[in-house]
Amino acid sequence: MTTEQTSVFRPGLFDGQVALITGGGSGIGRGIADLLASLGAHVVLASRKLERVEAAAAEIVATGGKASARAVDVRDTNLVRTMVTEVSASLGRIDLLVNNAAGNFYAPSETLSENAWKSVIEIDLYGTFFCSQAVLPVMKAQGGGSIVNISMTLHYRGWPLMAHATAAKAGIDALTKTLSLEWAKYRVRMNSVAPGPIPTEGVRKAFTPPPSADGVVDVFAIEKAMDGYAKTMIPLQRWGAPADIANMVAFLASPGGAWITGATMVVDGGEWLAKPPAPTR
Ligand code: COA
Ligand code: NAP
Repeated sequence: MTTEQTSVFRPGLFDGQVALITGGGSGIGRGIADLLASLGAHVVLASRKLERVEAAAAEIVATGGKASARAVDVRDTNLVRTMVTEVSASLGRIDLLVNNAAGNFYAPSETLSENAWKSVIEIDLYGTFFCSQAVLPVMKAQGGGSIVNISMTLHYRGWPLMAHATAAKAGIDALTKTLSLEWAKYRVRMNSVAPGPIPTEGVRKAFTPPPSADGVVDVFAIEKAMDGYAKTMIPLQRWGAPADIANMVAFLASPGGAWITGATMVVDGGEWLAKPPAPTR
C-alpha cells in the first residue's frame, strides 16, 4: 500500500490488531483507516451508510489491507453494543477504538432547533461515550487497549455559530480525562487528537452556505472563503490532511504511546495559538 512506503512507522506495527473506526468511510476517519491498515491492522469501518463503509473497506482490501464494514448509528446504544459484540466475536479482539464520527454545521444558536442541538450533541458526545463504554469489557478481557477520540480546537476560546459542536467536543475532552483515570487500572488508555482545519468533503458540505433567495447554491463559496486562509492564518502555512491526524492516532496507539493517557494532542499547524478572528455572520 502507498502509505506504507511513505510512513514513518515500521511495517507490520499493528499486525494481528483490530481497530474499530467510527466514521471510517470518509475524510479523516478514512485516512486513519488507510494508515492503520497499511501497518497491518484489521480495520473495521463503521457508520450509518453501509454502502459508504463497504466501498471504503473494499478499496482497502483491494490494496492488500484487512478491512470490514459495519452499519451503526453511534447515537443508538443497542446498535453500538451489537456492533461491538459482532466485531469481537468475529475478529476475537478490539485493540483500538477511534471515536471519529461526528456531525457539524454552521448555525446561529438563537434559532437552533431542539433536534439540531440534540443531533450534534448525541452523535459527537453520546456516541463517543456509548462506543467507549461498549468496547471496555472487550479491552478489559484482553488485558488492555487504546481509545482515541477525535476532538477539535474551536472550543478553546469559543466559536460563534457552533454552540452545539463546541459544547460536544468540550464534553469529549472532559470524558478523555475522566475515563482515562477510571480505566487506567484495566490498562485501557484514552487520549484525544484535536485537528485543525482539514478540507474534507464533510467539512465542505457543513460549511457551504444555504441557497440564496433565487435558489442558487454557490458551490464555490467555501473555496472563496478558504482562499488565502492557510497562508495568513495557519502558522505552518498549509491545510491539514487526514494523514496528519492518522499519524498522531497511530503513534498514540503504538507502544510509543504506552505511557500516555488522558492527553489531548493538538495537530493544527499552530492555528489555534495564532488566534485568528472568530467568524461572524
Ligand atoms: N442549520 C440548522 N439546522 C440544521 C442544519 C443547518 N445547517 N442542518 C441540519 N439541521 C437540523 C435539521 O433541520 C434537524 O432539525 P429539525 O428536525 O428541527 O428540522 C436536525 O438538524 C437534524 O437533522 P437531520 O438531517 O434529521 O439529522 P441527522 O441526524 O440525520 O444528521 C447532521 C445529522 C445534521 C449533523 C448532518 O449534518 C450529518 O449527518 N452530518 C454528518 C457529516 C458532517 O457533519 N461532517 C462534518 C464533520 S466536522
Ligand atoms: P466527515 O467525512 O463528514 O466524517 C464524519 C463521519 O461521521 C462520516 O463518515 C459519517 O458517516 C459519520 N457519522 C456521522 N453521523 C454518524 C452517526 N450518527 N453514526 C455513525 N457515524 C456517523 O468529516 P471529517 O472532516 O472527516 O470529520 C471527522 C472528525 O474530525 C469529526 O469528529 C470532526 O468533528 C473532526 N474534526 C474535523 C475537522 C476538519 O477540519 N475536517 C476539524 C476538527 C475536527 P455516515 O454519514 O455514513 O454516518
